[in-house]
Amino acid sequence: MKKRPAPAKSRARRPAPAPRRRPKTSPARPSTVAPATIEPIPLAAGGKPHPALGLGLWALGRWTAEDEARTKATIGRAYERGIRWFDTAEVYGGGRSERLLGEVLHRTSNAGADSFVVSKVSWEHLRPTQVRASLVGTLERLARRSVDLYLVHAPDTRVPLSETMPALEGLWKEGRVGAIGVSNFSVEELEEAARHLTEARIAVNQVRYNLFDRDEAEPVLEHCRREGILVEAYTPLARGLLAGRYLDGKRVPADVQRFARRLFDPDRRSTLVARARALRDLAARAEVPMASIALHWLRSRGAAPVFGAGRPEQVDANLAAWAARPSARVLDEADAIARGERA
Ligand SMILES: NC(=O)c1ccc[n+]([C@@H]2O[C@H](COP(=O)([O-])OP(=O)(O)OC[C@H]3O[C@@H](n4cnc5c(N)ncnc54)[C@H](OP(=O)(O)O)[C@@H]3O)[C@@H](O)[C@H]2O)c1
Repeated sequence: MKKRPAPAKSRARRPAPAPRRRPKTSPARPSTVAPATIEPIPLAAGGKPHPALGLGLWALGRWTAEDEARTKATIGRAYERGIRWFDTAEVYGGGRSERLLGEVLHRTSNAGADSFVVSKVSWEHLRPTQVRASLVGTLERLARRSVDLYLVHAPDTRVPLSETMPALEGLWKEGRVGAIGVSNFSVEELEEAARHLTEARIAVNQVRYNLFDRDEAEPVLEHCRREGILVEAYTPLARGLLAGRYLDGKRVPADVQRFARRLFDPDRRSTLVARARALRDLAARAEVPMASIALHWLRSRGAAPVFGAGRPEQVDANLAAWAARPSARVLDEADAIARGERA
């Protein structure tokens, strides 16, 4: 395991930005429900252990005032119930996602010090000076001195990784990011990125991965297993389809269709809905929530799911799903159903 070198005293370093002051508010109400058990995953690259389950704060760009209040309540509920991994990005809501997360975490009794905060530099900011400026903006919005993990949101073919990766490594050496990683990277891009690091290692690759969406992710997963890179699985619930949504003819909202074309493409939708109904039946027979199959199937493959939630009740439902542990036989059966090998 590579260790972060002690920062050289003589090295000129920018001082870490001081956290912005927050207005004093009363701490979040103490929880009356037992926190969820979410195991930590040690990262081969070092840094803080990575929680096995997290909450993502993308929210499809729904950022009206009412949505913001609901998002805050959802984050607060997740923290209260024991979720510590929060996934955000500078592009989510044009920075609003980071700001809301910072506000909610600062209201907790320890100002969110035990959280595992992940943010991402936009694919439009991959030149070295931009990477640094993006992180400064992120830390200001989050009102933190560092993030636990900082990802390249997606590669940009116009900017070589020989520019971006050393810039990320520099931030890691300065202690402003606990670990570095990437998102939406192919095997070739992972190999290229690793070539441009000297002391740091790629800790994580965040990719779209769920029972219905796996063809692109699985070769990447194999590579990551060999290289000791954790795969964070986004869209683990197939936008609710793997939690039982849209199975009874409910209309798929236009924004969901737009952002999840591969799932809700008219040519594919009826097949996937039929398979999802079979998964729902399997879950009923196994006496577990349907989402528990989706989440634990990912976990059984070594990935760490990061789900989205539009409301606090969805956090509760997904934590209840996480608490129910389907057997290996049930997960194998789910795998066959999702592949279309079993009705
Ligand atoms: N790196 C990347 O490029 C990238 C791309 C996409 C996502 N992500 C990250 O991954 C996170 C999760 O992605 P995602 O939102 O696509 O994941 P998802 O968990 O598959 O979908 C979340 C949506 O499913 C619905 N849902 C959640 N729990 C449910 C339940 N128990 N029952 C019924 N419906 C439920 C909600 O839809 P409604 O809100 O409509 O109710 C929720 O917004 C994002 O927030 C983001 O942090 C990263």
